[in-house]
Amino acid sequence: MSRDRILLRSAISSLMAIVCLIVFASEASFARELEKPGEGILLAAFGSSIPEARSAYGKIEAAYRKAFPGSPVEWAYTSGIIRKKLQKEGIDAKSVSEALDALAKQGVAVVRAQSLHILGGAEYVKFVQELATWQAKNPDRLKAILLAGPLLESRADGQMVAKAVAGALPRGNDEALVLMGHGNSKGRAGLAFEGMRAMFRENGVRVFLASVEGEQSFEELLAELSKAGVKRLWLAPFMLVAGDHARNDMAGEEEDSWASRLKSKGYDISVRLAGLGELRDIQQIFIEHTRKAGDEMAIVKP
Ligand code: CO
Repeated sequence: MSRDRILLRSAISSLMAIVCLIVFASEASFARELEKPGEGILLAAFGSSIPEARSAYGKIEAAYRKAFPGSPVEWAYTSGIIRKKLQKEGIDAKSVSEALDALAKQGVAVVRAQSLHILGGAEYVKFVQELATWQAKNPDRLKAILLAGPLLESRADGQMVAKAVAGALPRGNDEALVLMGHGNSKGRAGLAFEGMRAMFRENGVRVFLASVEGEQSFEELLAELSKAGVKRLWLAPFMLVAGDHARNDMAGEEEDSWASRLKSKGYDISVRLAGLGELRDIQQIFIEHTRKAGDEMAIVKP
């Protein structure tokens, strides 16, 4: 081998070594960045034991990963019953404190804690209490938890939700949309629902909203429908996902489901089993709440 070729070979191998070092170094610094991200996101929903319902969570998560690239995302289910059920099936289902632990372990300093509940009812209050309890027990693990409120917080939220829902569920002139919300028998949910009903009326789009466990009863809904005189109805949940209530209490075959009772009154029923969380516009409202988190309501390290 000539001296020149040997020199060329060693030059090439040194060059390769340098390239390798650069690639390695940049990968290492990228890994460091991922190891120590500034902020993490906690998404908290009631939870569902129905796999098709949980697929909506996947769509929400995808929207979040796009909106907050590089930020770790952890889920928490606020329902203990659902968590137990899922864990028995071998499905990862964290509580709020477990999700906070997981984010702290990933080295984030700040957690944006997003309630994916529809409004500030019982589940939301429980969520806030769990955040505060964790922070009090773990005073040095995070710099701050920034609380991001549920879907319906302001009039602007209500107007956007009314538009998103009415736009996503097109109906003929002789059709109306009947939404099943959850509601609470006690607390502020009833007033938020009343506000939401006003927004739908303002839009003039023949959308009726009642609740399965709240103040806006099915009987009231029947009275409203007969007054409106419309006979063809679309039924859909006004909940994050189409879970147990939507599949059974709303659309179920049993004779006490909303679908069966409306049919027995002579209504022509179609069902849409998709939660609000599947709508892009609804995802965007949550993402905006997450972005704005901390403007007023931060659970900051004491
Ligand atoms: Co319920």
